[in-house]
Amino acid sequence: MRSELQAIQADFDQAIDQIQTLVDLDALEVRFLGRKQGVVTELLKQLKTLPKDEVGPVGALANEVKTHIADGLAARRRTLDNNEIAIDVTLPGLARPVGHLHLMTTAIRQISDVFARIGFERVRYPEVEWDYYAFEALNMPADHVARDEWETFFIDRQPIDKKLGQRVLTPHTSSGQIRKMEEGILPIKMINISKCYRRQIDVSHVPMFHQFEGLCIDRGVNITHLKGTIDYFVQNFFGPERTTRLRPYHFQFTEPSFEIDINCGICLGKGCRMCKEGWLELGGAGMVHPNVLKAGGIDASVYSGFAFGWGVERTYLMKSGVNIDDLRALYKNDLGFLQQF
Ligand code: DAH
Repeated sequence: MRSELQAIQADFDQAIDQIQTLVDLDALEVRFLGRKQGVVTELLKQLKTLPKDEVGPVGALANEVKTHIADGLAARRRTLDNNEIAIDVTLPGLARPVGHLHLMTTAIRQISDVFARIGFERVRYPEVEWDYYAFEALNMPADHVARDEWETFFIDRQPIDKKLGQRVLTPHTSSGQIRKMEEGILPIKMINISKCYRRQIDVSHVPMFHQFEGLCIDRGVNITHLKGTIDYFVQNFFGPERTTRLRPYHFQFTEPSFEIDINCGICLGKGCRMCKEGWLELGGAGMVHPNVLKAGGIDASVYSGFAFGWGVERTYLMKSGVNIDDLRALYKNDLGFLQQF
């Protein structure tokens, strides 16, 4: 019986090395230790047929073999458990949450699409911008009071370049005008959409917001082109029954300058309880000032142009009718808020 036990152990040692799956391992366990007809179990049943003085030592050996087999099985099970990932194809799948674009990303895409249809090329310029492009070249010399209207964040305390001055976070997309002109290719039809930064925060202002800036420069460009372009935009963006009016205003970089109003979507300009006098303010525009053309290296006696620059947030909220009583909510990353749209 001793030799039988030794043969069983040798048998087991050989078999365990071949096992590659948990199913085979289970089968091996049944074969050796199974309560019915397990090889070891069967042998143990014969213990009682041995002479009395043999029972003790052979029993001890049998237990050793049994422990050896149980340990071998357990060790193999641990390695297989780690390697074999049980895939149960009948389990229900994990539903992945599906997000959507942020309201302002959608707005930017829609705005670019409308202008692309009439040949305005989408451009991008640095958000960390030189004073020169943000102000100086736009006909706003260093000590000009008009600069106060742009509550600017400064990166440098002092000018660090004779021509370019100090760096700022661009307070408006108009800084892209000169950068585009400097590329030296005419005519220009660009739409510059970018983040802008101003030191303002309250229910209707966020320190980081977006503007879209149109610039068109060619021979013979006049105010009717400005009006036609803007009407095309509002009819395609807000709806066919919308129109605009130009209201005289002042900007340093345009002459003449205007505020653009759009007729109210409810009364279409007649005047109602929502809008009072029939018109809502969209943003600034004008004919590019000759000094600005000159700064961009363009001959103002040959070329003329128009420009406009509006807030993306304001324009999109007017279109969607989404009533947000605190603009800051757009940028709080609160999914409960954002998922409503
Ligand atoms: N840059 C101006 C602002 O941020 C908006 C603006 C006004 C842009 C008139 C223009 C323009 O291009 O012609 O307030």
